[in-house]
Amino acid sequence: MIQTHIGGAAIRELARDFGTPTFVYDRAVIEQRVADLKGFPVIRFAQKACSNIAILALMRKLGVVVDAVSAGEINRALLAGYKPGQIVYTADIFDRPALEAVVRHGVPVNCGSLDMLEQFGARCPGREVTLRINPGFGHGHSQKTNTGGEGSKHGIWHELLGACVAAAKQHGLKIAGLHMHIGSGTDFEHLAQVGNALYQLAVQLPDLTHISGGGGLPTPYRPTDKKLDVAAFTKLWLDTQAKLSERLGRKIDLEIEPGRYLVAEAGNLIAEVRAVKQQGSYTYVLLDAGFNNLARPVLYGSYHPISVCPASGAGAADTQPVVVGGRLCESGDIFTQAEGGFVETRQLPRVKVGDYLTLHVAGAYGFAMGSNYNTMPLAAEVLVANGKAELIRARQTDEDLVRGERIPPGL
Ligand code: LLP
Repeated sequence: MIQTHIGGAAIRELARDFGTPTFVYDRAVIEQRVADLKGFPVIRFAQKACSNIAILALMRKLGVVVDAVSAGEINRALLAGYKPGQIVYTADIFDRPALEAVVRHGVPVNCGSLDMLEQFGARCPGREVTLRINPGFGHGHSQKTNTGGEGSKHGIWHELLGACVAAAKQHGLKIAGLHMHIGSGTDFEHLAQVGNALYQLAVQLPDLTHISGGGGLPTPYRPTDKKLDVAAFTKLWLDTQAKLSERLGRKIDLEIEPGRYLVAEAGNLIAEVRAVKQQGSYTYVLLDAGFNNLARPVLYGSYHPISVCPASGAGAADTQPVVVGGRLCESGDIFTQAEGGFVETRQLPRVKVGDYLTLHVAGAYGFAMGSNYNTMPLAAEVLVANGKAELIRARQTDEDLVRGERIPPGL
């Protein structure tokens, strides 16, 4: 496919003005995805998917609250203008900076281990907490993103609810919320089981005021992927909320906590073709981006749609099967691969050096999982609205790449 624009902005101009590789987010798509979920009383953005402070500020403007998994993410949320009470720290542990941050700012806490509950209780007796429960089952787009069942380290094992109640009592903590996140990129059938599992546990908690269905809402990557039936999904949760409120005789609040759903489709990674080479029967198109920018294919064999923008003219009319690779010194640095590292081809319009390739549906866990491998700078990030592009993160510089390093005297 040939695609020359993102959100009304010309890819050639984006590449000229900001360089490549660059992540380009289309604001209108984020706004649409937030609007899709407006049936939920509270939408909480799992910022680990895409945590640029401009994206967080946009979420805040759209009435979306936020999740944080580290002291760094708490700091980002505060920089984006969130009040501490609008943030929830969700994790399985407190590292020391995170514990200090939640205590100092008074950020609400969602505990994924009994140790966390006890450490929080020791510092902040009398506060409210949420428990993240592992219901004993889970599902994800990859085994690596399944966060439920005994094969997952996440959440408090469902049979330990009684022990949590006892630990909370000891510290005067109130268990005000229950949360379940069974995995990332799962499907409607599995998500549908979560409401019932939450309900069974929620009725045992006298101080309960809210429940959270976690994230995991799927996003279509392949043209054949089914879209989530948002209306049915919303109804399922509203029904659970109503049933629970009725059973407990008071209004129980409801949250949903998506990451991917809100940002994946908005994000595009634009890169320049720097070599086209033949290796036996395979044609390799090599880009100036790599898995230091988008790690999902190498980690999970994830599929990302790819389009071509010719450097000039209309581009080639004919297509060919190519392997799209990155610029890193590692064989696994291939964007078109199946889980297990098996190289796959993609049918793309014929390209030459200087043309641009865009990897689509890259807004979630794209930049956020970027690294400096091969001493490559983290990419630039740009937000596009109505054809107008704003830089929201400058590409790292040579200085950034060695910041903090030193040569001890005598070397
Ligand atoms: N809530 C909790 C507690 C989570 O652990 C996660 C994701 C989410 C919400 C958001 O899940 P989402 O709605 O985005 O599926 N790097 C992987 C995904 C890892 C997700 C980790 N936790 C990927 O690129 O697919």
